[in-house]
Amino acid sequence: LASTEVDISPIAAGQSVTVMWRGKPVFVRNRTEEEVREARSVPMSELKDPATDESRVKRDNWLVVVGVCTHLGCVPLGQKPTDAKGDYNGWFCPCHGSHYDTSARIRRGPAPSNLLVPDYAFTSDTMIRIG
Ligand code: FES
Repeated sequence: LASTEVDISPIAAGQSVTVMWRGKPVFVRNRTEEEVREARSVPMSELKDPATDESRVKRDNWLVVVGVCTHLGCVPLGQKPTDAKGDYNGWFCPCHGSHYDTSARIRRGPAPSNLLVPDYAFTSDTMIRIG
């Protein structure tokens, strides 16, 4: 399937879902205000792969990223409430210890770059189409 439709209406603030798109997991997170604030308060000079949070989202609270670690392709933890989220409160890849922040940007560990933002669009207030 070239594209995947996701109904985001059941995803409460602070929750995430994982959907499959072209055989890869995609993380869709409804971020809390605090998570957005954290993501936007980071100086670009602290980032290994500098990108503003604003450049990575289409709506402030919704983050959509491919859930594949940019090191060697493991699926990072952080989707379940009980998961380790790493030192930056986002996602943690347990394979070799990469830490991603609340914008899914790489902050520590061997991964070279941020989790990828796929092509997607809001088709309504409650639906997104990935791909
Ligand atoms: Fe994620 Fe190596 S595959 S840290």
